Amino acid sequence: MNLETITFKNNTLSIIDQQKLPEHFTYWALSDIDDVEKSIKNLHVRGAPAIGIVAAYGLYIHAAQLHQQKQLTDEAFMRGADRLKNVRPTAINLQWAVKQMVNVYQSLRRSGDEKLLSALKKQASSIHKDDKQRCNSIGDYGKNLIHDGFSILTHCNAGILATGGMGTALAPVYKAAEENKSIHVYVDETRPVGQGARLTYWELAQNGVDATLITDNMAASLMQQKKIDLVLVGADRVVKNGDVANKIGTYALAVLAHYHQIPFYVCAPLSTFDNATEKGDEIIIEMRDGREILNHWNINSKLQYKTYNPAFDITPNNLISGIVTEEGIKFNHSNHLNI
Ligand code: MRU
Repeated sequence: MNLETITFKNNTLSIIDQQKLPEHFTYWALSDIDDVEKSIKNLHVRGAPAIGIVAAYGLYIHAAQLHQQKQLTDEAFMRGADRLKNVRPTAINLQWAVKQMVNVYQSLRRSGDEKLLSALKKQASSIHKDDKQRCNSIGDYGKNLIHDGFSILTHCNAGILATGGMGTALAPVYKAAEENKSIHVYVDETRPVGQGARLTYWELAQNGVDATLITDNMAASLMQQKKIDLVLVGADRVVKNGDVANKIGTYALAVLAHYHQIPFYVCAPLSTFDNATEKGDEIIIEMRDGREILNHWNINSKLQYKTYNPAFDITPNNLISGIVTEEGIKFNHSNHLNI
């Protein structure tokens, strides 16, 4: 488990370029706020906790560069913060991390640039380190849901590549594997951009976890054949009543799991919880370019295709068995299923 999705060494912020996986494993050193914004927008780095961490380091880099140019003003810093916070609207970790950085900025902006820059750097690094620990604890709580011989279904990528640590939904899998439980993971391809096929399958293979790739429409049939014991997914936002926004297709899996009486757990750090929003239908869903759907098929026809491409959907709390956090399992409905 020595993959590091985000590194910050010698004042250089680098990310594994997830658009190049699985064919090429390369790091991209992000040189300024334009690179940071582009890397998040175009999914070179993705996953709610990971984009929060990158935005936090990105704001430090932005402030340091403004300082070098003798242009570190409140207005310039806040313009950067606003830009990054709005790149992807659904994942709350992005807004959460930017807010941490803005708080540090506001409390130290009159203490001199040197002190301010050092505090911003420290804050970004602590968001990063903190996430590693959160993932670890999610793994410790979640591994108890996994019994020897289990087949687990996961969607999208909520692993090392999506966080600063061992992942959220994949952390229990890695912990169970460390305990030598015999486990198998079915990986949903995750259309339209294939985070499951390109990233999760690759990541599990790197870590020696036995996995099988399926297309998204195969999950129902596997459940009907009693080949799935547990569904584990991540989250981009958990609101006050326990509704969850996660990668498009998560809701369908939750409905299927409910019908087949299969436990369905969301794994998410508390940095993904949004207590200012009451219910799932208030969450802004990021709409993405329809070319993400067409590109897969190399469709370049004269026909003007109409597309519909929401990046996320909402799973209502009553379909969720529980939410595994670093503080234990919240919204525990597992007794509905007698599990
Ligand atoms: O569009 P993405 O790839 O950023 O979507 C990611 C997800 O939906 C993940 O499940 C979620 O961010 C949790 S990652 C620990």
